[in-house]
Amino acid sequence: MKGNIELIKNGKRLDGRLAGDLRDIKIKTNVVKNAQGSAYIEWGNNKIIAAVHGPSEALPRHTANPNKAVVKCRYMMAPFSSSEEHGRSGMNRRAIEISKVTGEVFENVILRDQFPGTEINLYIEVLQSDGGTRAAGITCAAVALAASGIPMRDLPYSVSAGKVGDTVILDLNKIEDNYSDADMPVAILPRNNEIVLLQMDGSLTTKQYSDAMELIIESGKKISAIQRTALLEPYVASENKNKG
Ligand code: CDP
Repeated sequence: MKGNIELIKNGKRLDGRLAGDLRDIKIKTNVVKNAQGSAYIEWGNNKIIAAVHGPSEALPRHTANPNKAVVKCRYMMAPFSSSEEHGRSGMNRRAIEISKVTGEVFENVILRDQFPGTEINLYIEVLQSDGGTRAAGITCAAVALAASGIPMRDLPYSVSAGKVGDTVILDLNKIEDNYSDADMPVAILPRNNEIVLLQMDGSLTTKQYSDAMELIIESGKKISAIQRTALLEPYVASENKNKG
């Protein structure tokens, strides 16, 4: 354990979860009118909106790729999203890093060669944060992209795993992120479990890594189901309305 906070007591984490438990996740699509596609996620105490614009002509022109779309991603935390961010507006180094790695996830997943010379803009706005915002942001952005109709080779999800002492835990919240001994956010394509993002803060043994991956892939089934239900929800609702 790093620092002097006891993160696991009698087998339970501070928020009552067991080591392999996810926080509650809710996703809603098409939450803002003026985006091509959008989604809102509540993941524990994280609240995030993702919105998509495009494909549209890549501007300035020198940023265009004549063979495929470029993905421009901006991850931002609102000035009221956490005590650290209080009063701060604009990008910091961390937001630049998260924007970059998130953009790379979607560059790898969107069928970009269908849209040569264009750009796809992806905005991830963190309204409230409690650890794991990059994972929640990617999970939400995937739904926003799918809702916008942009074709992808799969619907990625993301979650992190880490460790407290020797115990491997899933889906770290902020206090766990701050005091744990490792944090590993991962994004995965569920169809073949292809890893499209893997970052690591701290270190894991080989056994801990495979235990962490097992928790991630198991929880991924739940996360993917929540994403798919959110995407279907508007159609189910209109079908019910037609019936009624
Ligand atoms: O959010 P994520 O875990 O992907 O990123 P992190 O850099 O590991 O940060 C962990 C948590 O610390 C964030 O989710 C925020 O709650 C908080 N944080 C913040 O509020 N402001 C920052 N500049 C950095 C971190």
